[in-house]
Amino acid sequence: MEGALTLRIPLSSPDITDAEIDAVTAVLRTNTLSLGPKLEAFESALASFHQMPHAIAVSSGTAALHLAIHALGIGPGDEVIVPSFTFIAVANAVRYESATPVFVDIDPATLNMDPASVEAAISSRTRAIIIVHNFGVPAEMEALMALARRHHLFVIEDACEAIGATYKNQHVGSFGDISVFAFYPNKQITTGEGGAILTRDSQLADRMRALRNQGRYPSGDWLQHAELGYNYRLSEMACALGIVQLSRLDQILVERQSVAERYDKLLVLNPLIERPPLQIKHRTISWFVYVLRLSSSLPIGTRDILLDIMIKQGIACARYFAPIHLQPAYQSLHQAQHAILPVTESISQRTLALPFFNRLSEDDAESVVSSLTSAIAEVSAGQKE
Ligand SMILES: Cc1ncc(COP(=O)(O)O)c(C=O)c1O
Repeated sequence: MEGALTLRIPLSSPDITDAEIDAVTAVLRTNTLSLGPKLEAFESALASFHQMPHAIAVSSGTAALHLAIHALGIGPGDEVIVPSFTFIAVANAVRYESATPVFVDIDPATLNMDPASVEAAISSRTRAIIIVHNFGVPAEMEALMALARRHHLFVIEDACEAIGATYKNQHVGSFGDISVFAFYPNKQITTGEGGAILTRDSQLADRMRALRNQGRYPSGDWLQHAELGYNYRLSEMACALGIVQLSRLDQILVERQSVAERYDKLLVLNPLIERPPLQIKHRTISWFVYVLRLSSSLPIGTRDILLDIMIKQGIACARYFAPIHLQPAYQSLHQAQHAILPVTESISQRTLALPFFNRLSEDDAESVVSSLTSAIAEVSAGQKE
C-alpha cells in the first residue's frame, strides 16, 4: 500500500469527478452523517451489482475480514489457510481472533493460491480458506470451492483488489460464504477509507451488521448491546462517494484495462521484463495494479535498486507483495517460521508495480517505461563490470 510520499507520477490516484464531490457535499448539508439513507443505498447497490441478498458496508477491508472471521466463530486452536503473497490484513484478521494463519504457495501464472498447496495444508484444525483475488485476477475458484466443500471448510473470499472481476461470468465476491471488499483510495473505486461484506446467509448478515455497530441489534435501543461489538461503521459521506463510484465502475475498469494494454505494448520488446497476462481463460480481470516481473537472469536485489532509481526520478513504484510470512510482525509465529513457499519467495523478489490508475496519461506511461528501460540498462551494465 502506498505511503504519503508525493512524486511526479504517483503509484495510484483516485478518479473523483464533480458527481462525487456534489454527492458528498449534499450529505454534509443534511443532519444525518452516519447510519442514514446513503448507507442503505450503498449496501443495496453493492448487493444488486453482485446479485447477492446482503451487503454490509464497514470502515475498511480489514474490518470486513475481521468481522467475517469473528462471525464464523473461528478462534483459538483453529487454522485458516491464507496466501502469504498478499496484503498483510488477510493474515492479521485471523490472528485478531487468536486463530492461526497457515500459509500456502501461489500459482506462478495467476499469483493466486495454488489449489494443490491448499489441499496439502488442510488439517483436522482447518476451519476456513481465505481466497484472495490478488491484483484483480480471479483465483482458481472451481478447484478451490470444490476443495472447500469436500473438506467442509468455510470460504471467505477476499475481493478487496478485484471488484468487478469475473470467473466464468460470475462476479468475484459472490462465491464464498462471506466475501470482503476494500475502498482505500488506491482501489478501483474508493470511499476514502471503507470496506464491505457480502453474504447469502441472513443470520450471518444480521450478526455482522450488529457487530459493526457495537453489538446493537435493530430491536434494541441505542444503549442496548447484545454482544461485544466494534465501531466499524462507514459514514454517510463515504457511502455517498461509494454510490457514485460504483455507478462508474464499468467505465473505470474499461479505462484501467486500456492503461494495462498501453503498458503491455510499451514493454513488449524488453526481454528482461515479464509482463502480466492481459487475459486469462474463463476470467475477466479488474485491473488493480500493474505488476511486472523482472527476468530471473537479473541478480537478486536488482528490483530494489530499480525501485530506488525510479523513486529518485519522481516515479512511484512498489514491491507488491512482500510475503507475509517473512514480515517482522510474523517472526514469532511457528507457521510463519516453518512455511515453505518457494514460488512466493522467488517471485516476490522480482515483482515491480508501476504507477497505475485510469487517468494515467499516454505521456506518463511512456515516461515510466523509458525511465525503467534506462534504469535496467544502467543496472545491468554496472553488474557486468
Ligand atoms: C487483499 C486485501 N485484503 C484486505 C485489504 C485491507 O483493506 P483496508 O486497507 O481497507 O483495510 C487490502 C487492502 O489493500 C487488500 O489488498
